[in-house]
Amino acid sequence: MNENEEIVREAERLSEQAEDSRALYEVKMSFLGRTGKVTSLMKRMKEIAQELRPAFGKEVNALRERLEALFAAREERVKERELARRLAREKVDVTMPGRRSRTGALHPVTKVKEELIDIFSGMGFEVFEGPEIENDYYNFTALNTPADHPARDMQDTFYLGEGLLLRTQTSAGQIRFMEKRKPPFKMLSPGRVFRSDDDATHSPMFHQMEGLVVDRGVTLCDLKGMLDEFARTMFSASSRTRLRPSYFPFTEPSVEVDVSCASCGGKGCPLCKGTGWIEVLGAGMVNRRVLENCGVDPDEYTGFAFGMGIERIAMLKYGINNIKLLTENDTRFLEQFKD
Ligand code: DAH
Repeated sequence: MNENEEIVREAERLSEQAEDSRALYEVKMSFLGRTGKVTSLMKRMKEIAQELRPAFGKEVNALRERLEALFAAREERVKERELARRLAREKVDVTMPGRRSRTGALHPVTKVKEELIDIFSGMGFEVFEGPEIENDYYNFTALNTPADHPARDMQDTFYLGEGLLLRTQTSAGQIRFMEKRKPPFKMLSPGRVFRSDDDATHSPMFHQMEGLVVDRGVTLCDLKGMLDEFARTMFSASSRTRLRPSYFPFTEPSVEVDVSCASCGGKGCPLCKGTGWIEVLGAGMVNRRVLENCGVDPDEYTGFAFGMGIERIAMLKYGINNIKLLTENDTRFLEQFKD
């Protein structure tokens, strides 16, 4: 009996010292575990006289129960303390100001390019991208551009040597596309182009969007209808287009397309230089020689093509007066295009 009281007191003392549940578990095992004190008491049963054994067994069981209750209560307190400590450690100050993350914005050229793709894919156009490094055949010859055409001049085109050049127009993609695909089709081809040109409205690198539609019975009216739709969506619901005769080697007839000035509604203002119209792109009926160069029978199929400068559209749409703003990437400029 005395020995039991001593064991209980020792268990109380040791468990009081145990700081965490791991240490407490070890103390508990040193009493109640397989090699613990209580278990070894039980093993002393055989050394005891037969008639004292039931009373002895009862004592040891009572001791075991007291210890179990003691450890259970102690365990509960240790767990509470551990939880409190963890909550204190992991406390979040919800009143602390957050770290601000700065979001970017799409570049105006990217925005206009995506908007163009949206408008024309809605009319059934598929997007095709040609290479930026081209050869003379795709950029000029197949597009019916004569050997003495000024665009071929060293002053206008960046030649890379070995018959290669930086494409000066996405029109080169027309040929690559038609070599692979038989009509009917509607193709849209965005991309960077390069010209030896540099002032407030010209940059040595800029973006174009090319369109090409070939089918039986395609006419200039189809072109006009699609361009009207494009102008209404890109600029304003009341925008109109007009075609003026022009010349491109790869189209016949060729036109320059004006859009009614969205700034003055066509009455005339400084932006449209008093004319009420702004030139936005070149277009025309695909020259039969171009179709022939790509193995398309011009007596069976006709087509129209158009090409526009994406920077130019962006400048008109957003009232940007210098093309350099689009390549300087000053964040004070770019941030104005956040949606
Ligand atoms: N490639 C011409 C240029 O860069 C633009 C152009 C004009 C494209 C007429 C066409 C077109 O597809 O039909 O100035």
